[in-house]
Amino acid sequence: MSDNTAAWIDSPYADVIIREAPMPKPGPGQLLLEVRAVAVNPLDAIIQSNGTVMYGWLQYPVILGEDVAGVVVETGAGVNEFAIGDRVVAYAIGLEKGRDAVAESGFQAYVAVDASLAAILPATIAFEDAAVLPLALSTAAAGLFEKDQLGLDYSRLGNAAHRAEVVVVWGGATAVGGNAIQLARAAGYRVITTASAKNHDQMRRLGAEGVFDYHDPEAANQIIEEIGGSVVAGVLAVAVGSAEPCLRIARATSATKIAMASPPVSFYEQPRRRGLSLARIRLFMKLGTRTALLQLRSRARGIKASFIWGSAIATSPVGPAIWGAYLPTALESGSHRPYPQAHIAGHGLPAIQDAINTLRRGVSAQKLVIALAQAPLDS
Ligand SMILES: NC(=O)c1ccc[n+]([C@@H]2O[C@H](COP(=O)([O-])OP(=O)(O)OC[C@H]3O[C@@H](n4cnc5c(N)ncnc54)[C@H](OP(=O)(O)O)[C@@H]3O)[C@@H](O)[C@H]2O)c1
Repeated sequence: MSDNTAAWIDSPYADVIIREAPMPKPGPGQLLLEVRAVAVNPLDAIIQSNGTVMYGWLQYPVILGEDVAGVVVETGAGVNEFAIGDRVVAYAIGLEKGRDAVAESGFQAYVAVDASLAAILPATIAFEDAAVLPLALSTAAAGLFEKDQLGLDYSRLGNAAHRAEVVVVWGGATAVGGNAIQLARAAGYRVITTASAKNHDQMRRLGAEGVFDYHDPEAANQIIEEIGGSVVAGVLAVAVGSAEPCLRIARATSATKIAMASPPVSFYEQPRRRGLSLARIRLFMKLGTRTALLQLRSRARGIKASFIWGSAIATSPVGPAIWGAYLPTALESGSHRPYPQAHIAGHGLPAIQDAINTLRRGVSAQKLVIALAQAPLDS
């Protein structure tokens, strides 16, 4: 088998550097993938911007990357649902606590992934298109279905009768939001969402019945009016600063739960280097104050506002329900579309740093994807 290569970050805040990496060995229940496409996530940019402030358990040098699609080249003990040669999409969770951030992170030619967080791809879906899904889909599922988040009913996903309850997804055009719209609809809920006007038709195609422009200061009030007397099963707040308007909606409706994917401030608003700076102090003070205020204002009204951890599904029944039971069938039937649209930001691992930098400047209803060439065969 060919040697492995990875996009390494040698120290906190550093740019990625491409060099050799150990060939991962798939453990029990794991797959070794030859990676054909990866996507970049805000998490990759945030870890690089925040140094050791979050994910303090990471030992450098480290490899980032959660979203991968590729071909199974080896299966670990106990894997029966996948075989060598299968085309799959998978959530690489190497960055999570207790995992191996070298063997199990996505930005490399070969990666070990949990079979329970992988799904076979229909021949009609390209690796590049599938790579948009893993972290966004998993985070959406965690926010909607985990017991300590919105706790929605996922038992009949893909086969659910239409329900009367509404789910509000603030930030429907985000990768997390677009997957949340589809999952909530597949579980039978009515969905009301926000997006820029140019993305409204797309939100409706994903299944939203109401779409409002979040740039309009009246958006929260418009949503409250649209909900009318309907029962709100929960509010999913995606995008920086989205928790505040979501709290306004919850306070004016029957909602008692808000699941938040994003912090109240952008972690990109700080210099990407070690040490204290005025911008960093200001950012973390704003983060602390806004978080505390939000919690106080929620609790005062009996509303539970909780922060989502996308990887929670890896150790809960939601993971198998989404990755095992729902996704392969939904992709095959076309009922769940890879969202957002893949934008090929480059070819080969060296393109990753530019893609992360581009993501920091912001994207609209697109996911930055890097295509990786098939590794040369052993001689
Ligand atoms: N907690 C977790 O485990 C977890 C995991 C994954 C992601 N996240 C967080 O979830 C958020 C979304 O991540 P992503 O990868 O899905 O993002 P993304 O796709 O890169 O988000 C881009 C989209 O954000 C939308 N947007 C920007 N500002 C908005 C606002 N104020 N209100 C509503 N929508 C807004 C834009 O919509 P328009 O184009 O329509 O303007 C744009 O399409 C990020 O904050 C990320 O850090 C958290």
